[in-house]
Amino acid sequence: MDDFMTAVLEIHAERWLEERRERICNADPLGADAVLATLPQVNREKDVSWLAMHLSDICPTVDAIHRFTEEGCIAAMRDIGMLLGSLKQNGVEPLAVLPAVEPALRELGRRTEMIPRDTVHHYTEWNPTGVRQRMYTGDVQETVLIDAVRLALSHLEPAIELCMSLHELPVSDLMFATKLDTVSQHIEYFAGAMTTVVDGVKPEFFARTLRPYFEHIRVGGESYLGPAAAHVPLYIVDLVLWASDHASPQYRGFMQESIRHTLPRWRSVPPYLENKPSLVERIVAAMTRGADEAHTVAPAANALVHALRTLRLFRSKHLGMAQRAYRESIRLFPLGSGGGDVDLLRTIRDLVRENSELVLHSSAQQSGEH
Ligand code: HEM
Repeated sequence: MDDFMTAVLEIHAERWLEERRERICNADPLGADAVLATLPQVNREKDVSWLAMHLSDICPTVDAIHRFTEEGCIAAMRDIGMLLGSLKQNGVEPLAVLPAVEPALRELGRRTEMIPRDTVHHYTEWNPTGVRQRMYTGDVQETVLIDAVRLALSHLEPAIELCMSLHELPVSDLMFATKLDTVSQHIEYFAGAMTTVVDGVKPEFFARTLRPYFEHIRVGGESYLGPAAAHVPLYIVDLVLWASDHASPQYRGFMQESIRHTLPRWRSVPPYLENKPSLVERIVAAMTRGADEAHTVAPAANALVHALRTLRLFRSKHLGMAQRAYRESIRLFPLGSGGGDVDLLRTIRDLVRENSELVLHSSAQQSGEH
């Protein structure tokens, strides 16, 4: 397929996804708008019986779910999820008090090919904006966090598309560096999103007010983590750029745990990438094959160093925020809401830097030799 046709198809796919997202945000299949508008106040009052009563009221039967569209199922899971997290924040295991909710969660998970609870996608990109926005606390700092993840996710989609196409492209192709630069432009939004969080969210608010809503709940015999930003699969970009062959066991373990919390179309990507050489590996190999090849791949190498720098910038800002929010004096939980910890974030940031240095080093060696 030529580049023009690929671009046309990409624009169609993007538009289709955007329209779908809007339909999900607009949907209120459980008639839960009014209940969820009251949720922040109920959470402040810690009214557990109200939460349990309304969860039971809005929860659909499996027969009713059969009549929902797939988009309706996503919106229903989003709204039930707000009550699950709120009960858990109050120290109540939701399905221990309302076991009748389990068949609905399982059916909604089955219909949407996702886990039987809400995820970061439900809480952010599928959450309506404005007065209908679903919130646990009603605090503007919660909106800053939701908006930051919305922004990051909207740029992750095209970044992943581009990364996948880079896999098919020789590193010497003229388009390689251009495409990689566009990946960097999308990833820059992650750092930008993090700046809004650093400026607009107090670490104490995250640690003591919001974090408890993201605790895991039990469905059947299994634990499922809440809608944490940590489940935004930036690791797919990492896998393509450097991590398929340079990740630490700790980071690999985190990816394996996280994968089930993301979208069906993204879940098949990491296993596919696992055995493919990363761009770092391919470019360093090309650099060492002699001066001519090193010269040809120089634009790709520069673009890769820039992309890794962009990833590191996000990771550095993010690590700073995480260190402040998880310091012992204020935290309520030692682990992050995605099941990892601050040490993992430091490891990832350092690995990104080491990989960038690897590329820089092999470029410098080539120019030194000639
Ligand atoms: C108060 C704000 C935040 C804090 C305290 C925080 C904290 C953490 C912590 C402790 C982890 C380690 C894994 C885990 O949670 O289990 C993590 C992972 C992660 N977080 Fe955040 N986070 C925040 C906001 C965000 C935002 C706004 C985004 C997206 C724009 C984000 C994206 C990620 C990603 C992608 C990971 C996986 C590890 C990585 O790729 O570096 N976080 N976060």
